Amino acid sequence: MKRWIKTSLAAVASLAALGAATLATGAWLGERKAQRRIELAVAPVAVPGDAAAMARGRYLFASRGCVDCHGADGAGRAFIDAGGFYVKAPNISPGPGSVVAGYRAEDWVRTVRHGVKPDGRPLFIMPAEDYSRWSDADLGALVAWLRQMPPAAGGGMQARVPVLVKVLYAVGVIRDAAEKIDHRQRAPAVVAADGSPAHGAYVAAMCVGCHGATLTGGKIAGAPPDWPAAADLTPAGSAMARYPSAEAFIAMLRSGRRPDGSAVSKVMPFESLRELDDADARALYRHLRQLGPVQVAAN
Ligand code: HEC
Ligand code: HEC
Repeated sequence: MKRWIKTSLAAVASLAALGAATLATGAWLGERKAQRRIELAVAPVAVPGDAAAMARGRYLFASRGCVDCHGADGAGRAFIDAGGFYVKAPNISPGPGSVVAGYRAEDWVRTVRHGVKPDGRPLFIMPAEDYSRWSDADLGALVAWLRQMPPAAGGGMQARVPVLVKVLYAVGVIRDAAEKIDHRQRAPAVVAADGSPAHGAYVAAMCVGCHGATLTGGKIAGAPPDWPAAADLTPAGSAMARYPSAEAFIAMLRSGRRPDGSAVSKVMPFESLRELDDADARALYRHLRQLGPVQVAAN
């Protein structure tokens, strides 16, 4: 049996045995897990100052999902607001109320690559596992842009998380990014946007947070109940069969619509996906088309 099925069954069994009092204990354990400290020695990446790097950083910020949660101005926005589940991302622009005001160069590496805040606590919701394999060059370019983007006002994270989510987090069914990331992996210095298989796999890393490490999709752990399951993106699934050409696939990324005109769920981060340039989108498409049924795409 797959490990995650075992874990889920164990969790369901233990939940069934829980009374209200033990549920409260579970939620408390979840809080405690969120407050744990993770020791990490990280080296800063070089932050370039040239115009080309700045433009690359701006492009990455716009196209890799950051804007979907932190907003185009970086001030932070509410990206989950469903019933008792509310999450507003923090301000990461240089403006008033920013949580990155005191960031040293290595703190960016700790947050974006490892899912760990400067004080050692884990990020709870941000999918840093999507970014943990960014090259040093791309991480440096992103930081260059974020440090000097126009300042916008906005405060820290605000969150109301259902008790059940906290319990599932405590028992390990929902894992934070710091748990999913292999902290010993070495990031590449540069990944060229040259249309190679390595390039396609590199872009696809931003899909694993929802579509899973093997891109086979399924229910997104910890997501609000009204979110649909993520599609299976491997050739074995039915979704990619709708996209026989790169053009059809790119049209969906830019419009949010399938070839038959129906809308794909807005859970897909189209605000970012429509910003993917042709080179990245084509390399991504080629990567998805050649995925094996059990091949691990990223992470
Ligand atoms: C799905 C939403 C989401 C996406 C995508 C996302 N973030 Fe975040 N980010 C958050 C949330 C929520 C927090 C608050 C910490 C947490 O997750 O508990 C956060 C926190 C941060 C922090 C501050 C950590 C601290 O010190 O408190 C930084 C810096 C950051 N994000 C940068 C980025 C960058 C850069 C990107 C894109 C490469 C990105 N984020 C993508 C939701 C997101
Ligand atoms: C925030 C979560 C999230 C991220 C990130 C995400 N997706 Fe999705 N994706 C979904 C969900 C949920 C669905 C199912 C949508 C539906 O059923 O309407 C989906 C559906 C799809 C589909 C099927 C479209 C169809 O014709 O029905 C494709 C193709 C796809 N995603 C590709 C990608 C690619 C490629 C990436 C990364 C570049 C990505 N997604 C990133 C959540 C996500």
